[in-house]
Amino acid sequence: MTAAAAEDLGFVPLRVAAVDPLTSDSAAITFELPEELQARFAFRPGQHLTLRRVADGQDLRRTYSVCTSAAGGPLRVAVKRLEGGVFSTWVLDALRPGDVLEVLPPAGRFGPAVDPARARKYGLVAAGSGITPVLSIAWTVLDVEPESEVVLVYGNRTSGDVMFLEELADLKDRFPDRLQVLHVLSREEQESELLSGRIDRARLQRLLDTLLTDVDEWYLCGPFGMVTDGRQTLLDAGVDPSAVHVELFHADAPPPRVRTVPAGSADTAVVTVVLHGRTTAVSVPKDGGSVLDAVLAVRADAPFACKGGVCGTCRARCVSGSVEMDVNYALEPDELAAGVVLTCQSHPTSDEVRLEFL
Ligand SMILES: Cc1cc2nc3c(=O)[nH]c(=O)nc-3n(C[C@H](O)[C@H](O)[C@H](O)COP(=O)(O)OP(=O)(O)OC[C@H]3O[C@@H](n4cnc5c(N)ncnc54)[C@H](O)[C@@H]3O)c2cc1C
Ligand code: FES
Repeated sequence: MTAAAAEDLGFVPLRVAAVDPLTSDSAAITFELPEELQARFAFRPGQHLTLRRVADGQDLRRTYSVCTSAAGGPLRVAVKRLEGGVFSTWVLDALRPGDVLEVLPPAGRFGPAVDPARARKYGLVAAGSGITPVLSIAWTVLDVEPESEVVLVYGNRTSGDVMFLEELADLKDRFPDRLQVLHVLSREEQESELLSGRIDRARLQRLLDTLLTDVDEWYLCGPFGMVTDGRQTLLDAGVDPSAVHVELFHADAPPPRVRTVPAGSADTAVVTVVLHGRTTAVSVPKDGGSVLDAVLAVRADAPFACKGGVCGTCRARCVSGSVEMDVNYALEPDELAAGVVLTCQSHPTSDEVRLEFL
């Protein structure tokens, strides 16, 4: 794949300025951002980048959250090694300063719209590499909202696994009255019993009763179980669902669903997509693969990364007709209400569908 073709897909070649180890199995990757790309790569707290690498004819795309302050921080992500993981292993073992990676501009809606006039208390709950977007949120809020407070609950196995230990300590030094960091360690005893163990429902409930009181907005990021249990604990405690925001990095694929075509309905739908200003129509079997896969067969420029319903890169607005999604871990309720769908999870349920990629 040539650089020009990659740019046709929306990717921009960015040079790696630095690779800084954070722990024995994670590193921060900082990109050089020439003046002319700064507006295109301006990010909001909690947003992510999709990185792409073509290796052995395989188009590998993975999403990584920006982990610096959106108020002037460098463009930096952090990658944690997943044992046997194709992309993370390559990044940690082979990526060097000076290398060039293909990168999609920032995307995603996990994170507040910061406003200097706001005075809020943010409750942030992260585990492992889930700290990356949460660090950006904490840092940006503290930089931009002088009256707001942040309480961060950060779970790891041991203190040696804690990513951004230094950055968190520096932030604490800069904002001693407005930032509280609670390290919860599952395999290391701490003085406080409350902070020794996993961030499960019982522990979060106890934290809610003691240290996490009067929170206005919640942001949770980590493994599937922690995030879904955490969200449910907050809802059970009476927190308004619109104040609870979650981000997942991975979800196991659901068992394949058997789809049937209702009697009297056509077997295939005509799906018309508007993408990068061009309109294309494809036939999509109603009982077959996803709309995204059908579109990719004729439009290689259709955006995607995880194909698992978590990253949101493949978002499109359904402007007519209807589709059904297998799973959705990426879209917020207001996006669903506005007709936004994940094309990697969508299957047509009407004979004609029109989708506009976002
Ligand atoms: C919105 C978003 C933001 C993300 N931000 C970050 C970030 O800031 N830092 C970071 O390190 N990662 C982040 N990720 C995860 C990242 O995109 C990759 O999924 C991760 O690096 C694993 O890729 P891999 O190629 O190494 O593993 P793969 O080769 O893709 O996976 C190997 C195996 O592990 C499973 N698997 C994949 N991911 C996970 C997981 N997270 N937990 C458990 N099993 C898994 C796969 O199903 C597969 O069986 C983010 C993901 C999303 C969707
Ligand atoms: S490609 Fe990640 S949600 Fe569809």
